Amino acid sequence: MKKREPIGFIGTGNMGEALIAGLLKAKFAEPEKVFAFDADGERLLSIERKYGIKRAPDNSRLSAQCDLILLCVKPQSMKEVIEEVSEALNPSKLIISIAAGVPLRVIEAYARKQLRLVRVMPNIAVLVREGASAIAPGTLATEDDLQLARSIFDCVGKSIILNESLMDAVTGLSGSGPAYIFLVIEALADAGVHLGMTRAQALTLAMQTVAGSARLLFETGEHPALLRERVTSPGGTTAAGLYKLEEGGLRKILIDAVMAAARRSKELGEKLG
Ligand SMILES: NC(=O)c1ccc[n+]([C@@H]2O[C@H](COP(=O)([O-])OP(=O)(O)OC[C@H]3O[C@@H](n4cnc5c(N)ncnc54)[C@H](OP(=O)(O)O)[C@@H]3O)[C@@H](O)[C@H]2O)c1
Repeated sequence: MKKREPIGFIGTGNMGEALIAGLLKAKFAEPEKVFAFDADGERLLSIERKYGIKRAPDNSRLSAQCDLILLCVKPQSMKEVIEEVSEALNPSKLIISIAAGVPLRVIEAYARKQLRLVRVMPNIAVLVREGASAIAPGTLATEDDLQLARSIFDCVGKSIILNESLMDAVTGLSGSGPAYIFLVIEALADAGVHLGMTRAQALTLAMQTVAGSARLLFETGEHPALLRERVTSPGGTTAAGLYKLEEGGLRKILIDAVMAAARRSKELGEKLG
């Protein structure tokens, strides 16, 4: 896989900044080979100072200068940005879009040409380099492009490659997923408070229980059902708790939640054209 530099970031908001920080920390790129532009001039200046990267004068010049371009603006800004930079784009450049719900065919329609595109759906945990990202190729993207995209998003968490047709499902699962887990943590902490803990004590235990359980799955590579069985003694406390979760339909409610979010993502995408 050929490393492509310079790298250009269009948009340095929450996600753009998290990616810049992650790439530099992982030494994936040298700061002097990272260019960025943002409509918010003050923010751009502060990112330049904080990370030592280069500020581009505008999106068009950034696009002309860079072989790898990351589109990190809000979905509603995509049309304006692509129309602005279209002239500087051609299939020799790899363009990675992280705009939620914007299909690659819509980007090509805005540009009025075929481009070498990769679509990525990361989640908010990239801010702490624990993001979950799904990567999908456009028609002109090569295997090398996908591996390059993977190595970028692996700097800020873990990534998988799949078909773009699954992006609504990704949005429903890992895109919206952090909010579901925040709710679960809040509810577990509420229970701790009901049982006499302080809110801070209960939250610490709930957060670490979720983080530690996920880590245990990653590190052992075991199936969750197997680990669950291993911690459930016959007639014990965990069995009593699990019975209540099954009685309340936790498994079904989570599946329903992911499917509802995926349906909503599809509806919003259809509105975009
Ligand atoms: N946040 C998440 O959890 C998450 C998860 C998955 C995917 N995404 C996707 O990631 C993208 C970025 O999200 P974000 O949370 O980082 O948004 P954000 O914090 O609002 O950052 C977007 C930045 O782009 C700037 N911008 C607007 N128009 C521009 C233009 N024409 N040229 C250059 N810069 C422009 C904005 O400046 P102004 O503020 O001045 O407009 C802002 O600084 C979105 O498409 C979103 O769908 C986000």
